[in-house]
Amino acid sequence: METFYITTPIYYVNADPHLGHAYTTIMADSMSRFHKMLGKDTFFLTGTDEHGDKIAESAKKNGEGVRDYADRVSRKFYELWPELGVENDSFIRTTDPEHVECVQRFLQLVYDQGDIYFGEYGGYYCFGCERFFTEKELDSGNCPDHQEPPEFIQENNYFFRMSRYQEWLRDYIQQNPGFIQPEGYRKEVLAMLRDPLEDLCISRPKSRLQWGVELPFDSGYVTYVWFDALINYISALGWPEGEKYSRYWPAAHHLVAKDILKPHAVFWPTMLRSAGLPIYQGLRVHGYWKVQEEKMSKSMGNVVSPLQLRSSYGLDGFRFFLLREMQFGHDGNFSEEGLINRFNS
Ligand code: ME8
Ligand code: MG
Repeated sequence: METFYITTPIYYVNADPHLGHAYTTIMADSMSRFHKMLGKDTFFLTGTDEHGDKIAESAKKNGEGVRDYADRVSRKFYELWPELGVENDSFIRTTDPEHVECVQRFLQLVYDQGDIYFGEYGGYYCFGCERFFTEKELDSGNCPDHQEPPEFIQENNYFFRMSRYQEWLRDYIQQNPGFIQPEGYRKEVLAMLRDPLEDLCISRPKSRLQWGVELPFDSGYVTYVWFDALINYISALGWPEGEKYSRYWPAAHHLVAKDILKPHAVFWPTMLRSAGLPIYQGLRVHGYWKVQEEKMSKSMGNVVSPLQLRSSYGLDGFRFFLLREMQFGHDGNFSEEGLINRFNS
């Protein structure tokens, strides 16, 4: 039987779920239902991303222990999806012990491959994105997503030899036109790969951050949150021995918005390649929901509550609006007036 595996990003637990998260998850739900109707053996995964600086900071600001904080916010996502008619088959948390074990096994494989080394690095770090930016990627000195100046961080860390896979990745994307869609995002990734690809910093010293997965080869460090998070797509299937892993991998389609294009299009395939795993089948990238030209986000303070919309307009009307109003790949504008017009017509 043909299989179809669809995933959403695992959402950070530093913010309550809003319309943006609901869009991706409802889109994934619709795709999952569609492929089920086609008679395929389908698996639909969502979940929460709970380690890293940003979550540790938010917990502190809330005066809560970080584990309690992560439990509490993760539950909000977990409980929201059925309320929105979403029928996910599983819900992964990066604090699940099974996931943590997978991350360590994966790191060990990459380490044994000779693709991890120790070195010093300084770079521009955006805590909102939890990643370093090159000077060229910044938007007049600011993070292009959060529009805040990144912090310059310099420390000794472990690095993943991502640069080793640059040529392979470029060839792979060129030879598999369906891998990244829509086409505009495929071109964007190919453009990124025209410049030399830097190695990826994959650790944080425990002296600065404890909230993460300990490196299997150095207990003085935890794993960088993106390296940890991306592995959810296989840890949720019980990689390496799990029955689900052999059944659904690599039939995976990752659905994301454009904010996290690079981790999915560049970090993840090169990680898989290094560890000797098959590459996922496809990346499907959508644009942003905006409110009066601004990206809807917690940091902009312009978020819309999905449950409130459901209670005003009903679930089907709300889901229909989301899928109909936004042209997949492009940004869409949210206004309640727009919703009412769609609904009435
Ligand atoms: O990036 N419009 O989590 P996150 C459309 N933990 N989609 C939106 C949106 C908007 N205004 N706002 C959010 C992370 N989204 C990482 C992911 S995956 C291994 C780790 C949706 O909580 C969209 O799917 O910041 C976007 O990619 C995701 O939420 C970002 O969620
Ligand atoms: Mg984000």
